[in-house]
Amino acid sequence: MAIIKRIWSREILDSRSTPTVETACLLDNGVVSVYSVPSGASTGSYESLELRDSDPNRFHGKGVLKAVNNVNQVLGPQIVSKNFDATNQFEIDQFMIKLDGTENKSKLGANAILSISGAVAKAAALSSAMQLFEYIADLARKKQILATVHAPIPLFNMINGGLHGAGNLDFQEFFVIPASSKSFTDGLRIGSEIYMSIGNNLKHRGAIHSVGDEGGYAPNLFTNADALEILVEAIRQTTYQLGRDIFLGLDVAASTFFADNMYTIRDKSAPFTEDSLIMYYKELQNNYHLAVLEDPLHEDAWEGWRKISEVLGSQVAIVGDDLLATNLKRVDKAIQNRACNAVLIKPNQIGTITETLDVIKKARDAGWKVIVSHRSGETNDSFIADFASGVGADYVKFGAPARGERVAKYNRLMSIESEIYLKSQPQAQR
Ligand code: PGA
Ligand code: ZN
Repeated sequence: MAIIKRIWSREILDSRSTPTVETACLLDNGVVSVYSVPSGASTGSYESLELRDSDPNRFHGKGVLKAVNNVNQVLGPQIVSKNFDATNQFEIDQFMIKLDGTENKSKLGANAILSISGAVAKAAALSSAMQLFEYIADLARKKQILATVHAPIPLFNMINGGLHGAGNLDFQEFFVIPASSKSFTDGLRIGSEIYMSIGNNLKHRGAIHSVGDEGGYAPNLFTNADALEILVEAIRQTTYQLGRDIFLGLDVAASTFFADNMYTIRDKSAPFTEDSLIMYYKELQNNYHLAVLEDPLHEDAWEGWRKISEVLGSQVAIVGDDLLATNLKRVDKAIQNRACNAVLIKPNQIGTITETLDVIKKARDAGWKVIVSHRSGETNDSFIADFASGVGADYVKFGAPARGERVAKYNRLMSIESEIYLKSQPQAQR
């Protein structure tokens, strides 16, 4: 038992120099935890509200002092006054949802609410002398999520386009994915080797090799298929084989290039209709061993999602991110409509750990794959790595294997993997 004594919050900067919320939680046994929330750039319309100040005199209107104030003046004192035990995660989250009282957390802000939800989980783990991923696994079990705790397979975002890149690639993320037969640590080494090769190849070619928001390269290429070719070229220089040891994937983020019912990308001169775009994905899948396809269509194109799942769903994880927004109702609708077979999980899209677990439970019960994701604007907080391992996600998506805020999570997964291995040994010392 450890009672929450104090909760306080500050404005800090994320990896894009944009303010975000960092919240601390003190328990009556002296334990202190700190958690900071990430922030997206290609945010879906159905996400909970990230409260920003809109004061043009500070950070171009992007300050979060209102959210910080809501933690310090409203949510924090209310929680403390109830003498909650820190392990009462579900009750505390429900209490905050009630205090806010809106559908999308627009009164107090999903950033304010999640900052407390995450800080409370961390404090409870510390105070229970548990590793955070084990504590999360306990919460997942309480929600009847049948999870195998492990370090999930990484989706390395090697090339950044769309809203995260230099503006000349339409697709947002180009993934290199180690095969499930590899350990996480081996997969990370392979990812890093390929990342370095891509950089060298771009340099030799005289192409731009600076990086985008998630640490992947943001090169000056002509088409989206060219970016896939760059990945294939780098994989060919290794001893690994595409389609056996390594697979590719895409986060298309199609809502960002959808207008007037058409999809406009550089790969063909005329815009694509929904049907012709689905056929183009099929072609890319055949040529490039795509294993994961995220947001291939617009976030409201329900009928198109059903079609693409019918065409490609048996070979490819069709992942809803903007489509689902980690929202139980939308996931439910997608299950009914057979719109996809995998969910992207971002706790800040919905705003509490409890609701995030509810979405994972629903997706798992439908037989879907689960991918736990960072945001393009990140801090060095590695909570999400523990969360992904604890809920037994199939994949994690934490950007390229480069830049501090990305490798903080990948490095944490290596440590989780070795921790799990040590514990599995007959004479486990810890
Ligand atoms: P975001 O991008 O964090 O900028 O929304 C990540 C994604 O679309 O998966
Ligand atoms: Zn996405």
